[in-house]
Amino acid sequence: MIKKNNIDLIKLIQYYKLINHNLIYNNKAINRYKNVSFEISADKFDNLERLKKSIRSIKKCSLKDNAKNMVFSDGNPKSKIMLIGEAPGANEDEEGLPFVGRAGALLDKMLSAINLDRKKVYISNIVNYRPPENRRPTDEEIKRYLPFITKHIEIINPKIIVLLGSTAMNALIGNEVVISKMRGKWIEKKFGSCKTSVIITFHPAFLMRQPAQKKMAWIDLKMIRDRKI
Ligand code: URA
Repeated sequence: MIKKNNIDLIKLIQYYKLINHNLIYNNKAINRYKNVSFEISADKFDNLERLKKSIRSIKKCSLKDNAKNMVFSDGNPKSKIMLIGEAPGANEDEEGLPFVGRAGALLDKMLSAINLDRKKVYISNIVNYRPPENRRPTDEEIKRYLPFITKHIEIINPKIIVLLGSTAMNALIGNEVVISKMRGKWIEKKFGSCKTSVIITFHPAFLMRQPAQKKMAWIDLKMIRDRKI
C-alpha cells in the first residue's frame, strides 16, 4: 500500500512536471531575467541576487528605514552600457525602479535620441533608497552605499558607464572635480575587476531646470552613440 506521504509527493512531482519540471530537479536559482527577455548567465544572476540581499541587510540606515522600496536597477544586465544616477525619488520609491518619474521620462527621450532604450542599457543609482524630501544623499550615506554600487559595476562589467549628474560623478570619480569641466570626456577607470570607459553628463532633473544645457548633453549623447564598443 502506498503511504499518504508518498501519494502527496507523487502529486507534487506531477504538479511540478506540469508547470516546469526543471524547477524541482534543478536546485540552482531560478533565472527570472531569462523569462523576461534577457538571458544572463546563472553566475551573473546569482551575483545580482546576492548583491540585492546584502543591500537589503544593511543595518542602521535612515534612508532605508524611511523608504518604501529598494530601488536596485532596471534594464538589461547584459548591456555594455550602464547608467548611474543619484538616488530614487518618490515615483521610484513607489515602483521600486530607477528613473520612472519626470526625470526618467526625459532620460528615456535622451536615450531614444541615440537609438537606445531601457532594454538596451542597464540603469542604477549611487544609493538604493529614496532620501527624504528628495534631498541629495549625504557624504556618509554615499560612503555607506559605495561598496554596493562598486560591486554592482563589477557584476555588470559594462564597457561604458554614463554618470548622470554631479552626485554620481563625485561619488565615483572624486570630490575634487566639477561637472562643467568633467562632462563630455572619456575617462578610463577601474572599479574592482571592471575596467571601463566613463563619461559624465548632466542629470536629466538638472536639464529640466536648466534647459539651455541640453545642447551640452546632446554633445555627450553623441559621444556615447559614436563610441565603438
Ligand atoms: N533621479 C535619480 O538620480 N535617480 C532616479 O532613479 C530617479 C531620479
